Amino acid sequence: MNVIVLYASRYGSTKGIAEFIAEKLRQHGLEAEARSVDAAPEIRDYGAVVIGSAVYMGHWMREAAEFVRKNSDVLDGRPVWLFSSGPLKPEPEAVSQDAPGIEPDEIAELRRLVHPRNTRVFSGALDPAKLDFPHRLIRRLPAGREVLPEGDFRNWDEIEAWAAGIAREIAVPAA
Ligand SMILES: Cc1cc2nc3c(=O)[nH]c(=O)nc-3n(C[C@H](O)[C@H](O)[C@H](O)COP(=O)(O)O)c2cc1C
Repeated sequence: MNVIVLYASRYGSTKGIAEFIAEKLRQHGLEAEARSVDAAPEIRDYGAVVIGSAVYMGHWMREAAEFVRKNSDVLDGRPVWLFSSGPLKPEPEAVSQDAPGIEPDEIAELRRLVHPRNTRVFSGALDPAKLDFPHRLIRRLPAGREVLPEGDFRNWDEIEAWAAGIAREIAVPAA
């Protein structure tokens, strides 16, 4: 089966996660490629879709949420996985459908629209040198640096395990 891994990423760390997931899916024998949601190919041509977004101020990036809303009919007929990349700490608790505590606001809505097989929050990364001016200002607010610490907290083992789970589910379709 061919899989498309779509991402919305402002500074590249979510793109890195998407490319890593696509690479792991290929290692499991699937055809997989990662693309920006802004340059998404026709998703009808893909058997399964993974969509991830960076999280800013508690929200998915607008283009990612809009993409899911606009394509919800096609997506709802396919196996879909959603991931968010945000928390700047090593271990955001794994988020299940029963414990949506740290998930961005849109996820509950997107879940209703496309019934993903799984949704997941991964730790993100922040490089202050890359931030645009408005984000630099937010980081200069009192407690900004505390809430938004510098560092790369992406847990590749965790991401690899998630990708392996996707590969397993695709290989053995749900009844
Ligand atoms: C101004 C600003 C606000 C952020 N807000 C959140 C947030 O609300 N929740 C969260 O989990 N992460 C938040 N983050 C962390 C980013 O989601 C994290 O750095 C992510 O890895 C960025 O992905 P990107 O490099 O693909 O854009 C914020 C980062 C910045 C700079």
